[in-house]
Amino acid sequence: MKKTTNMKNSLNIAIALLVAFTLVSCFNNNKPNYQYMPDMYESVGYETYGEYDVFENGQEAKLPVEGSIPRGYTPFDYENTNEDRALAKTELKNPFEITEDNINEGEELYTIYCAVCHGDKGDGQGILAEREKFLGIPSYADPARDITMGDIYFVETYGLNSMGSYASQVDHKERWQIAMYVMNLKAALNGTPGLLDNQKEMTSDSTEVATPEMEENKTKTEASNTSEEETN
Ligand code: HEC
Repeated sequence: MKKTTNMKNSLNIAIALLVAFTLVSCFNNNKPNYQYMPDMYESVGYETYGEYDVFENGQEAKLPVEGSIPRGYTPFDYENTNEDRALAKTELKNPFEITEDNINEGEELYTIYCAVCHGDKGDGQGILAEREKFLGIPSYADPARDITMGDIYFVETYGLNSMGSYASQVDHKERWQIAMYVMNLKAALNGTPGLLDNQKEMTSDSTEVATPEMEENKTKTEASNTSEEETN
């Protein structure tokens, strides 16, 4: 009886040693270790767009039909060239209604994305311009540029020289909302009626066109004009 227990014990020890030895000797830091359940690591399913013989055209999933548009994406027919920018400037029109809500939305986004360079008023005097981190930031009122909604949308989409593209930060609608707000900034700088002021002018008989805000801007422009004259 005692003998058999001893034998069993030594057999157990021998097996344990053998298992331990096998595991240790098989372990190699430079190679993938033993995979207990390889199906967990290596998919037996077909990979999307993988090349397989069993499928028609060798492909598991079909590629989208040419010209397909992903959900939520709005195609833009203009290319990033000077010619197309000139075209966008004259013919690209804002597809959204000009409302106070849209303009307010545009103001919020403008303050986040554009004001650092272009300034809260759009005069090109943002904090980065003041600190001379960016040079050549124009005023929206620059008559040589004479910006339009289409132009603004184009530049937001593609960027322009040292100004980057904002297409990944603000979507199609948001870019138009910003463009609306920028047109209002331009109008305020020039002392002309803003987008909604124009509409009011057309839809009502009201003779009061200029808002107090605009009057204020007008006096400011006048003031800066006189100070320029003084320095000259
Ligand atoms: C990092 C600084 C910077 C930021 C931020 C910036 N811009 Fe600009 N922007 C510039 C510079 C510099 C130019 C002049 C580029 C040139 O003409 O070479 C410019 C030019 C423009 C123009 C004039 C385009 C034309 O046709 O002359 C518009 C409009 C404009 N930016 C709108 C925007 C809007 C809208 C935003 C926010 C979404 C924005 N910018 C954010 C630096 C910036």
